[in-house]
Amino acid sequence: MLYLDSAATTPVRREVLEAMMPFLTRWFGNPSSHHTVGEAAADALADARARVARVLGMRAGDVVFTSGGTEANNLAVKGIAIAAQRRGARHVVTTPIEHESILESAEYLSRVHGFDVTRVPVDENGCLDPAAVAAALREDTAVLSFGYANNEVGTVQDVAAAAAVARERGIPVHVDAVQAAGWLPLSAADLGVDAISIAGHKIGAPKGTGALAVRGRVPLEPLLHGGGQERGRRSGTENVAGAVALATALELAEAERVEASARVSALRDAFIARVLASVPGAVLTGDPVRRLPGTASFTFAGTSGEAVLLELERRGVVSSSGSACAAGSDEPSHVLVAMGVAPEVAQTAVRFTFSHDLREPLDAVADAVAASVAAVLAH
Ligand SMILES: Cc1ncc(COP(=O)(O)O)c(C=O)c1O
Repeated sequence: MLYLDSAATTPVRREVLEAMMPFLTRWFGNPSSHHTVGEAAADALADARARVARVLGMRAGDVVFTSGGTEANNLAVKGIAIAAQRRGARHVVTTPIEHESILESAEYLSRVHGFDVTRVPVDENGCLDPAAVAAALREDTAVLSFGYANNEVGTVQDVAAAAAVARERGIPVHVDAVQAAGWLPLSAADLGVDAISIAGHKIGAPKGTGALAVRGRVPLEPLLHGGGQERGRRSGTENVAGAVALATALELAEAERVEASARVSALRDAFIARVLASVPGAVLTGDPVRRLPGTASFTFAGTSGEAVLLELERRGVVSSSGSACAAGSDEPSHVLVAMGVAPEVAQTAVRFTFSHDLREPLDAVADAVAASVAAVLAH
């Protein structure tokens, strides 16, 4: 079986498992406890925090460990917006192609707290225009929140350009870097953003690990109240082993990033070319150039994406129709629809997402795609 769904999740890396293991067994203490077992855990947590901060170009004190990307995005969007209400802010700017954790957080702010939400349209490749972002910003905008790289079509935004127009006006910028980690530069300082989300399970750490790094000067209202851990920004006994795992996976991904991105991009391009040449009606979705090295996404006119996936699995290839959250639903992808793809064409979408350690050409997979589409069309 060939697993081509790495944007959904990845297996835990051996190095990560080995690094986290002592904090599940020998040094299992509660980092708030004042004895040697607790202090060992607290030291490990502090070390993990500093390592995550270094990769993200933030300060250690800016890092809040979370249960993953969803919580990090919720904390960023709701936490920054609700804190900004005190200075009269009541408007949030995002885009229609975001992960549900951003879209639904904005929707919650509208429904429960009376915020206005502007979703700045993207073009047919899924690209956000910084001038359109500038036009959407208002005096009372609390936060601009958008994804660095899209999870369904892999389009990469010009984060620095979009962020610059908000920061010029003193508006905090949050970027969802969950899919970017391990492929693209992550320094928040270079990107010019105030908050950045990551999730461990996309880069070889366990599910349920992640972080939001948010600059100390940006007020943040916590979502979880309790014992005041994470400097009061996220109560709850810390997942020490998870934090160690995240830091280890992130450092490894960053160290391997440049080589992996070049290697996988070349294999991806050859795969895309072979699919487009051999599958009648295949259309690449997302930006042809500004795209994640590990993402190849298509629509196959006249098919059903779910039927193509079943045919592919019979041929030993596992992939998905889009985001794992939407998998199995009958709704067309909100991302493709926002890019102007007709709903009936959006239903034919298939996404192949590759691991950072992909080394073999994907010719046989492209041939399996051609055979699968042909089988569906013949039915
Ligand atoms: C772009 C993006 N943001 C956020 C998330 C949510 O992360 P998690 O699964 O860790 O909650 C995902 C997961 O698929 C994602 O792709």
